Amino acid sequence: MKGIILAGGKGTRLFPLTKSINKHLLPVGREPMIYNPIKQLISADIKDILIITSREDMGDIVNLLGSGKDFSCNFTYKVQEKPKGIADALLLAEDFASGELITVILGDNILTKSIKPFVEKFKKQNEGAKVLLKEVKSPHHFGIASFNNKKLSNIKEKPTQPQSNYAVTGIYMYDCNVFDIIRDTPIGPKGEYEITCINNFYIDKDKLTYDILDCDWTDAGTIKSYRLANNMLYRINNKIIDGDYDENSI
Ligand code: G1P
Repeated sequence: MKGIILAGGKGTRLFPLTKSINKHLLPVGREPMIYNPIKQLISADIKDILIITSREDMGDIVNLLGSGKDFSCNFTYKVQEKPKGIADALLLAEDFASGELITVILGDNILTKSIKPFVEKFKKQNEGAKVLLKEVKSPHHFGIASFNNKKLSNIKEKPTQPQSNYAVTGIYMYDCNVFDIIRDTPIGPKGEYEITCINNFYIDKDKLTYDILDCDWTDAGTIKSYRLANNMLYRINNKIIDGDYDENSI
């Protein structure tokens, strides 16, 4: 299993915080934002990690993270020349993945407990894809799942009339077919290759499973969610906990 962190984008919803700093380098709690997805992958025993970011931000990211020695893991880096969506960035990971299963985390997704149990389940599944869901209060901000008898039947990206309150978080697991699927997917209406199209493809082939997160989760892409992410991680001292945690003991 290999890990991929997508850390590109302009972070416009956080302007002016992100005018001259990549969003994933902003502090969350006591550490830079990107530490959380890195620690998530490491907590799931994924030590080969590819980080994808823009040309202008690569220098700062490498300067912060280096070879991976400080985290006892190996970092590889790739430049996404133009921000053409999550699926487009993921395509850059094909050689790195070299046929293995992958876990992909959007660099602004923050959670308080380890993803290890879900990664272990996906290793047993050994093909297709898995997404992690979280119940949210404002579903129109996310990719939202629809169900048919508890089976995931469709995902709609930022729907005006959400069919549920279950958001697809930015943590995705795929087999190596994902790259062919991305290549066969048409570009979306906003000029981006959407990850939701890829996930719907796996649903149509009956190859997408899901689990529901039982810990705090947020993305940190807006001022409001960035503040929430700060509170979440500050409270637990930026520690990724394997099991349940007792707030009073931290
Ligand atoms: C992306 C995905 C969306 C998902 C969200 C989670 O949206 O497109 O489906 O729910 O990440 O963070 P973005 O935040 O890039 O608009």
